[in-house]
Amino acid sequence: MGGNMSLKGKVAIVTGGNSGIGATIALALAKQGANIVIDYIVHPEATEALEKKIIALGDQAIGVEADVSKVADLQKLIDAAVAKFGRVDIMINNAGVETRTSILDTTEAQYEKVLEINLKSAFFGTQIAAKQMIKQGGGGRIINITSVHEDWPMPGNIAYCLSKGGMRMLTRTAGVELAPHNILVVGVGPGAVATPINLGTMKDPVLMERLDAAIPLGRMAKPEEIASVVAFLAGDGASYITAATIFTDGGIMHQSPGL
Ligand SMILES: NC(=O)c1ccc[n+]([C@@H]2O[C@H](COP(=O)([O-])OP(=O)(O)OC[C@H]3O[C@@H](n4cnc5c(N)ncnc54)[C@H](O)[C@@H]3O)[C@@H](O)[C@H]2O)c1
Repeated sequence: MGGNMSLKGKVAIVTGGNSGIGATIALALAKQGANIVIDYIVHPEATEALEKKIIALGDQAIGVEADVSKVADLQKLIDAAVAKFGRVDIMINNAGVETRTSILDTTEAQYEKVLEINLKSAFFGTQIAAKQMIKQGGGGRIINITSVHEDWPMPGNIAYCLSKGGMRMLTRTAGVELAPHNILVVGVGPGAVATPINLGTMKDPVLMERLDAAIPLGRMAKPEEIASVVAFLAGDGASYITAATIFTDGGIMHQSPGL
């Protein structure tokens, strides 16, 4: 266990919670004492394995199959949290996909898929979680896993950039709107993180060398290095951060062109 237990008794929902950054966030919050609702759409066995790890830490966890691009499924997550744990204190909008397509070749179906899974889910996830937090009283935390690409163009991945850019303004605007309720809305913007979403790059030594060279810290992040920031933002030490994104990118957005 170890660490401080500043989230003892809090209830967190993590979307896309059984792999990559989401699974690591679930564990990091549980290490601080939170009970976790793990949202997933595939690999129920990964959800079960994560539940066991969380229970071994002394907390409670439930897996809920829910497609976050559907508002009714997001409501199912909130309802499951309230039924099992009585409340929702922390909502982590983490689920995300990308198509690696450009302005000239993105289809309508690809556009809709990326915008719905990444942005619509965060919008209504924020809305539904905030309604529950207001109903129960006492404020709350909503943390949106965005990307350096909320700000930084990525040619060849345009729908993804649009979705993360939308999450940037969701975070800022909802942060201001929900501030009177002491519900803090914060974005975490990773650079390159070693997770399944980057398997293509990670399998290619030439691409990896180029990527590492472009990152001032010289390497991709481990998912734990993103999760620790999220755990901080969910805790007492981050009570005055809202409507902002914390970039966690090894300096990549401010790289020197090497002149
Ligand atoms: N890995 C990186 O380099 C990096 C960088 C910046 C931002 N991010 C963001 O971090 C988040 C997590 O990505 P990751 O790197 O852990 O990759 P990942 O592919 O392991 O995680 C994405 C998760 O979202 C889930 N998901 C997809 N569609 C869903 C749906 N309709 N409903 C519910 N869940 C769904 C997937 O099953 C998966 O568990 C994403 O939002 C991603 O954009 C990742």
